[in-house]
Amino acid sequence: MPTTAVISATGLFTPADSITNAELVESFNAYVTQFNHDNAAAIEAGSVAALSPSSVEFIEKASGIKARHVVSKAPILDSAIMAPRIAERPDDEISILAEIAVAAARQALGNAGRDAADVDAVICACSNLQRAYPAISIEVQAALGIEGFAFDMNVACSSATFGIQTAADFIRAGHARSVLVVNPEICSGHLNWRDRDSHFIFGDVATAILVEASDIAPSPHWEILGTRLKTEFSNNIRNNFGFLNRAAPEGIGQPDKLFRQEGRKVFKEVVPMVSNLINGHMEALGLHPEGLRRLWLHQANANMNRLISARVLGHEASEDESPTVLDTYANTSSAGSIIAFHLHSQDLQAGDTGLICSFGAGYSAGTVFLRKAA
Ligand code: COA
Repeated sequence: MPTTAVISATGLFTPADSITNAELVESFNAYVTQFNHDNAAAIEAGSVAALSPSSVEFIEKASGIKARHVVSKAPILDSAIMAPRIAERPDDEISILAEIAVAAARQALGNAGRDAADVDAVICACSNLQRAYPAISIEVQAALGIEGFAFDMNVACSSATFGIQTAADFIRAGHARSVLVVNPEICSGHLNWRDRDSHFIFGDVATAILVEASDIAPSPHWEILGTRLKTEFSNNIRNNFGFLNRAAPEGIGQPDKLFRQEGRKVFKEVVPMVSNLINGHMEALGLHPEGLRRLWLHQANANMNRLISARVLGHEASEDESPTVLDTYANTSSAGSIIAFHLHSQDLQAGDTGLICSFGAGYSAGTVFLRKAA
């Protein structure tokens, strides 16, 4: 019998600073006013398109987002910069991505009562790695004093569920007994804060998930009943920044080197893809909607989650059935569903079943069905 993999604990690091929609829109609209003023003649001549202002009402209605945490607030709100300014660190200092991952990881280890020395592997699963190599995960491994091995992986917003399945597979195959999956997401670095359609979408955060063999797991823990992954190529969410085009990552001239999306198409195409994945996986595991106590869905858009949960549960989900953290965290890429799980799972009872589900660029989607064990 293969070993059963479980989630022993999770951890969450939240940056202290937060930007409200009102603050964000004020800075964006100051930029729009300045741009239209500076380009008045060209706009008048029809060679440059005037920019339109953003609005708090639109953002909240279209997305459910009210605020977002960020690691570098002032430069984002400075309408002459509109990007985070994160000082480069010398090589002998821990990188910022590893630092926030370590903070989340320490919390997960503490919650599990686990000594870092007992962990066998670290997977850094996230959307935006800050450098090519050495792997961020290996830096996290060293900072925590973990032996064994570590590597980075990127499946955009779905990275966490892909990381959980990878960790669970290592455990089932006997390659490891305790695997730390970290999801540090500094999304503010790849967001185009000058793009009206998307400037409000993302925030910064880090989460950690400790995946372990059931026989060494603390009580309570979450048995992983099954995992399923799905990818389907799409250009509708894309970021062309990379090591082969080393131009400055921000700037009006190169929006394709930052996050961009066809939001409407994403909405229309991803809702059925994810609902079908969940329903197919649920059926294969012999589970039924009425037995699903809670959905911890990817946090990209409140309306999307409303539709997906209705297609899974057969009725409009309550906040208790499908909690959202979008209002305070915004979209935090791979970390979103893990924040929802971390903040909204303590009240479940032994025997309760729930689902972590992520989806995003690729397209990619992943499901992790869990059952609480005493
Ligand atoms: N403020 C005010 N109005 C705005 C605006 C803003 N910031 N941004 C867009 N608008 C306007 C548009 O100009 C458009 O006006 P029109 O109808 O007169 O042309 C209208 O609002 C609708 O714009 P649209 O971009 O089509 O909005 P939407 O209702 O589809 O919502 C998203 C936009 C991005 C929030 C939504 O499509 C979405 O969340 N999609 C999925 C995103 C996702 O999950 N991505 C995954 C990332 S991991």
